[in-house]
Amino acid sequence: MKGVKEGVAVVTGAGSGIGRQSALRFAEEGASVVVADIFEDGGNETVEMIQEKEGKATFIRTDVTEQEDVDQMVQEAIDQYGRLDFAHNNAGVEGDSVLLAEHSEENWDQVIGVNLKGVWRCMKREIPEMLKQGKGSIVNTASISGLTGSGGSPYVASKHGVIGLTRKATLDYADENIRINAVCPGVIDTPMVQRAGEADPEMMEQITAGVPAGRLGTPEEIAQAVVWLCSDDSSFVMGHPLTIDGGLTVQ
Ligand SMILES: NC(=O)c1ccc[n+]([C@@H]2O[C@H](COP(=O)([O-])OP(=O)(O)OC[C@H]3O[C@@H](n4cnc5c(N)ncnc54)[C@H](O)[C@@H]3O)[C@@H](O)[C@H]2O)c1
Repeated sequence: MKGVKEGVAVVTGAGSGIGRQSALRFAEEGASVVVADIFEDGGNETVEMIQEKEGKATFIRTDVTEQEDVDQMVQEAIDQYGRLDFAHNNAGVEGDSVLLAEHSEENWDQVIGVNLKGVWRCMKREIPEMLKQGKGSIVNTASISGLTGSGGSPYVASKHGVIGLTRKATLDYADENIRINAVCPGVIDTPMVQRAGEADPEMMEQITAGVPAGRLGTPEEIAQAVVWLCSDDSSFVMGHPLTIDGGLTVQ
């Protein structure tokens, strides 16, 4: 993909699922990758997977709810590879699956803190580096829960928030050559969804049957879109929440 080779990317939540595949895809295209996650074993494994294919990657333990960690994550890109071109702000948690009035304040704060404030926190630190270079491209992971009411209430609110934040950031920096987009995955076969499937196999069967494509999505299908949105191949795409859901939300 145009403009990705020899660039530098940071990916949060890159120790598992969608983030791992996005880190692998960036590396396959020739970018150097900072793999960031709170989950150290998973992050180190992603780096090994990239290095096995002769790619360039380094892991840094990062909790996106801690500004100091996020500062160090961006600094790692500068220290190791000299710049920051791309960011996939993807770390997320699903939270409890209960009715609105049954959510604890703790669960609300955790889900909003990681999924929404975490994305803001990352962009707050990534954008100044991109401004220094005069160019950059960011993709935030939202969800079809950012477009519909499907999911726990803090999750739905956080993902609607990510889409709003993506639009506002776009308007703030569009004339500075920084593009910011979002992906809205449907139901994707990752550990997050596998956990839900183990808890309620019948519900998961119903969800899968309800996808017009007749199957769950793969994390590779999301990663492909993320790297394309970061590449120069999508140079006029700005502030867009790209739905990748096998037709789930067009019904
Ligand atoms: N799988 C799906 O069906 C689906 C659908 C729509 C959106 N999403 C979103 O995609 C993103 C990735 O989800 P996934 O399905 O790959 O899940 P996953 O659980 O496989 O991966 C999420 C990763 O985020 C990391 N993480 C959690 N809290 C963190 C924190 N505070 N700081 C840094 N890292 C943290 C986890 O350690 C994990 O490695 C999430 O934002 C999720 O909401 C997933």
